[in-house]
Amino acid sequence: MTKTTKQTGAKSDRIYIFDTTLRDGEQSPGASMTLEEKLQVSEVLDTMGVDVIEAGFPIASNGDFESVSEVAKLVKNAQVCGLARAGAKDIDRAADALKHAKNPRIHTFISTSPVHMKHKLQMEPEDVMEAVAASVTRARDHTDNVEWSPEDATRTDHDFLCATVETAIRAGATTINIPDTVGYTMPQEYFEMITMLRERVPNIDKAIISTHCHNDLGLAVANSLAGVRAGARQIECTINGLGERAGNAALEEIVMALNVRNDLMPQWSQIETQMLSRASKLVSSVTAFPVQYNKAIVGQNAFAHESGIHQDGMLKNNQTYEIMTPESVGISQTSLVMGKHSGRHAFRDKINNLGYQLGDNQLQEAFVRFKELADRKKHVFDDDIIALIDDEVAKGIDRIKLVSLRVLAGSHGPQAATLKLDIDGKETEVESTGDGPVDATFNAIKALFPHEADLQLYQVHAVTQGTDAQAEVSVRLEESGKTVIGRAADTDTMVASARAYISALNKLLIKREKQAPDSLTA
Ligand code: KIV
Ligand code: ZN
Repeated sequence: MTKTTKQTGAKSDRIYIFDTTLRDGEQSPGASMTLEEKLQVSEVLDTMGVDVIEAGFPIASNGDFESVSEVAKLVKNAQVCGLARAGAKDIDRAADALKHAKNPRIHTFISTSPVHMKHKLQMEPEDVMEAVAASVTRARDHTDNVEWSPEDATRTDHDFLCATVETAIRAGATTINIPDTVGYTMPQEYFEMITMLRERVPNIDKAIISTHCHNDLGLAVANSLAGVRAGARQIECTINGLGERAGNAALEEIVMALNVRNDLMPQWSQIETQMLSRASKLVSSVTAFPVQYNKAIVGQNAFAHESGIHQDGMLKNNQTYEIMTPESVGISQTSLVMGKHSGRHAFRDKINNLGYQLGDNQLQEAFVRFKELADRKKHVFDDDIIALIDDEVAKGIDRIKLVSLRVLAGSHGPQAATLKLDIDGKETEVESTGDGPVDATFNAIKALFPHEADLQLYQVHAVTQGTDAQAEVSVRLEESGKTVIGRAADTDTMVASARAYISALNKLLIKREKQAPDSLTA
């Protein structure tokens, strides 16, 4: 059973983890993140030991450009990558977004499968081949760290695939990524494809081969590992398997599979596995995509033992039913932490142990909120503190603030909410009714701050157990094609709901100011 949190091994077995949560992951419908959230996620990825962070697709919109550029400035250790189609404009825009990165990478791609070339690109194979050489050459004018992908590689003619890969390497590509764009391949087939490339492409030794597997058949992780067995040394993946349609290979599953089955696969990554749980919670929280209870590694039940026989076995020896320890992925067994008598010092230690570094002001505000929470809640758990800090870190400069809320609920309606908001420094109050207390609260917000945004998602989950648990509420609003997610946690579900809605509105106001010229996905 593994207890280690970071692996080592032979240099030739080192696996580079390329995280694309902020690019492919963010392309999932409804998973859009604000700049601040992307920075929060990239900081965790960087600290966790991810080798490459794909931060976005700079040509897609001004917002994407800005996030790649800001992530590039923030990240200390990882390479920061920007995606670009094969055109010169895309590539130059990516290079521009990456100009502050310590170690920038341009990732350029073009489709190579017959179905994509004919129907999507409407290009002949010879023209695609020319575009491969031209795009990689253009990217190399900006950096010597260039990745090239033949989109839909797993449905591409093998001779053509080998020829394009050879051309890309000749033009200067240092990483060759083989996307299973539509999640169609199977482990043996993908193994054979990587093996074929290694055998048939004469200059393949000049590039690192990478996997990029989608999960349409639930095989993304298995296919990625098959690619590694065949010689791939970079894996593209996302936290919680977020990504287009059924998602990508889940980073946490890849890393722990390599870690736990080191006896079968000597390949290793430098990921600090104790941060996996935190990364998962953060991504789930900023996207409002819940993690399924029985999800491998990071699901709520991944280390829960319900049946009597299993519990009995666990009490005798935890190796009876656990192949890795919860601690190795950052799930603390002793999660009861602090109460209202805990001091500022202990609070700082606690949050540092949870992997957060806060500035003095943020620490002070978080501490005040912790004290308020400890007054209202008997036991404050790690998860309560994580929810509180994530809430605090995500806070922007808000134009709309909640001053007070009183709600009348019960079996005989109409339910009512009396709400006071501070909007741009001016306080106003209103009383509204609604079909239930949440509806009444949201109607009151609309009365004080009229808007046309459409409520797409309202989601509540309990951070911990018990009737005094904090409710973590997520609200997704959509306006003219732009979506934002607001979230908040409080022991009072109505207060959390109001604050989550207001947080979404504040984010929408920021988005209104930053107009995106167009919207593209890869
Ligand atoms: O799935 C895919 O093919 C992609 C490419 C842009 C690498 O995401
Ligand atoms: Zn993809």
